Amino acid sequence: MTAGGALSNPLTKYGSAMIIREATFLDAREIAEVSVDSWRSTYQGILSRPFLHSLCYDRLEEIFRQRLFSGNPSDFIYVAEDEKHRIIGYATGGRERTGLTRFEGELYELYIPKPYQLQGIGRKLVSVAARRFLREKIGNLLIWVLVYNPSCAFYQSLGGSIVHQKTTNFGGTRLLEIGYGWSDIRKLARITETAGPMFLL
Ligand SMILES: CC(C)(COP(=O)(O)OP(=O)(O)OC[C@H]1O[C@@H](n2cnc3c(N)ncnc32)[C@H](O)[C@@H]1OP(=O)(O)O)[C@@H](O)C(=O)NCCC(=O)NCCS
Repeated sequence: MTAGGALSNPLTKYGSAMIIREATFLDAREIAEVSVDSWRSTYQGILSRPFLHSLCYDRLEEIFRQRLFSGNPSDFIYVAEDEKHRIIGYATGGRERTGLTRFEGELYELYIPKPYQLQGIGRKLVSVAARRFLREKIGNLLIWVLVYNPSCAFYQSLGGSIVHQKTTNFGGTRLLEIGYGWSDIRKLARITETAGPMFLL
């Protein structure tokens, strides 16, 4: 991971200070916990119970630690943390992975635990990711969303349009994924320009 910017203290709707910063490998456990818990709550009724049950903090912690320690340098993981330094959301991204689309940037994951949803954290994480892409001279963005996921409305509210679809195998179940794309991410990047001063960690 390269050193990145942090967004200081835009007040979230719940009234507490929040920081968005680039993750370090010390964050691997907490990110893994947010990830597993979010998968279980988001995909309950969409993905099979055995598949969701098989998700494991320890295994994911190891995967995130590897990604943070020796992953592709153009990939990133940003975390949002509250005033007690608890991780209350994360976003990962990097170069578009299939090479089959006209999009260069891809948001791989975006997860906010339920108690922190709908307070503007997801929007700010997407914006910080957009700023990162722009710094790397990438001006567009793609994200894959499972078709039954209510977060489709979130991406639409951020101006994403449906640009692709594909089926993916999740633990033996083939499901449709919708690709939301932004051809120009400058507007997304501007969301956080007005949210607070930037500083380097
Ligand atoms: C989807 C998710 C990332 C959105 O982040 P968030 O912090 O909850 O959303 P925000 O508060 O930033 O919302 C931004 C806008 O999207 C809208 N929105 C967010 N989630 C929505 C939903 N499920 N349905 C409808 N609108 C939604 C908000 O109302 C808001 O609209 P506004 O600008 O008109 O006020 C978050 O809810 C989440 O992690 N969900 C579970 C995991 C998931 O589905 N991740 C995405 C996998 S691709």
